[in-house]
Amino acid sequence: MVLRWWHRLAGAGALLAALAAALALTVAGLRPTTAEHAQPSASAAGVRRPPLRFAPGGSFKVALFADLHYGEDAWTDWGPAQDAGSDRVMAAVLDAEKPDLVVYLGDLVTANNLPIPNASLYWDRAFSPTRDRGIPWATVFGNHDDMPFEWPPEWFSPDGVPPLRCPPPGSTAASGDDQGCSFRGAPRIELITAEISSNRLSYSQNGPKDLWPGVSNFVLQVLSRTHDDPALLMYFLDSGGGSYTEVVSSAQVKWFQSQSRFLNPNGRIPELIFWHIPSTEYAKVAPKAKSEIKKPCVGSINKEDVAPQAAEWGMMDALAKRPSVKAIFVGHNHGLDWCCPYEKLWLCFARHTGYGGYGNWPRGARIIQITESPTSTVSWIRMENGTKHSELTLSS
Ligand SMILES: *[C@@H]1O[C@H](CO)[C@@H](O)[C@H](O)[C@H]1NC(C)=O
Ligand SMILES: *[C@@H]1O[C@H](CO)[C@@H](O)[C@H](O)[C@H]1NC(C)=O
Repeated sequence: MVLRWWHRLAGAGALLAALAAALALTVAGLRPTTAEHAQPSASAAGVRRPPLRFAPGGSFKVALFADLHYGEDAWTDWGPAQDAGSDRVMAAVLDAEKPDLVVYLGDLVTANNLPIPNASLYWDRAFSPTRDRGIPWATVFGNHDDMPFEWPPEWFSPDGVPPLRCPPPGSTAASGDDQGCSFRGAPRIELITAEISSNRLSYSQNGPKDLWPGVSNFVLQVLSRTHDDPALLMYFLDSGGGSYTEVVSSAQVKWFQSQSRFLNPNGRIPELIFWHIPSTEYAKVAPKAKSEIKKPCVGSINKEDVAPQAAEWGMMDALAKRPSVKAIFVGHNHGLDWCCPYEKLWLCFARHTGYGGYGNWPRGARIIQITESPTSTVSWIRMENGTKHSELTLSS
């Protein structure tokens, strides 16, 4: 979420374009995640990803990078300086924590502020600190990632007609008829296809086609350190926004139910859930905006109201019914970093990681550490300056 003038919701323009492309499912882990089409682990480029696995010490650590908002105000000094700041935050967190996986929790770019279809370049830059360190990652979409460009009003003054700012030939990942010089947003499917096909470390997937326009719907299995069965399941969902409504659909609910029944029929394996926009239930458990965060909630900033999805179509019920689901992690609200209990699970915000996007609260990243046996999930926030706070146990 952002509050500046160009950060309003966009229409449904890119939807048809998003539906036009198609590519093979990428499945990490040994068990195919979709029972109906038993696809082996193959990426768009035909590259097999090695399965994710608990480390010999028996733990698996995930870093959440939320709301990086790359690509703002590229025509000023300010924008590129913010992006350099985001590079530094990620480097500091990765070096301090050495996670086994990074989850990019949406709003990697502020596409409505990109003056050319340059989104894939910024999208790629968001991974580079992680890729440089050889760490695998997965991404989900936020509401800004595929927004069409919105012309800043100041470009229309004083001359009235702004100059077209087109990329030099061959310099962008843009495709199609427009020669990279239109101002449509880069469709979700285009961003994710570019990511998957050129990055062996990317574990992202473009989910089942029947869930489109939501694209980032997939499951990652983390295998036991001692055998080839999963000991952790991570579900990624597209909570919409940008080219379509901010919502998790009932089709996604059914998809989650069938995946979880298939992969974890007896609920033995702990499950964690990741998407970008908080559900309406977050607003119900939230401490009053700007008040102190009191137990049982744990966190350090509570500066604004929860900005939830447009509707609730049953996902929260489906999750609350599964004791194996330990927590949900979202970004979107840059001024919130708490976790609060909801039924038998935790609803957590990440921490604003990027220098892009609204808000000047110190940057950091939520870390999740899962232990295989005995099973436990703990989480804390690691700041850019190295300090660590808000540690809590999400399951034990
Ligand atoms: C396009 O992206 C590149 C790489 O991040 C950046 O250097 C360049 O300034 C961008 N161009 C515009 C006009 O945003
Ligand atoms: C690190 O940043 C936090 C704000 O997040 C601040 O409270 C703390 O004093 C800083 N610590 C150091 C050692 O600079």
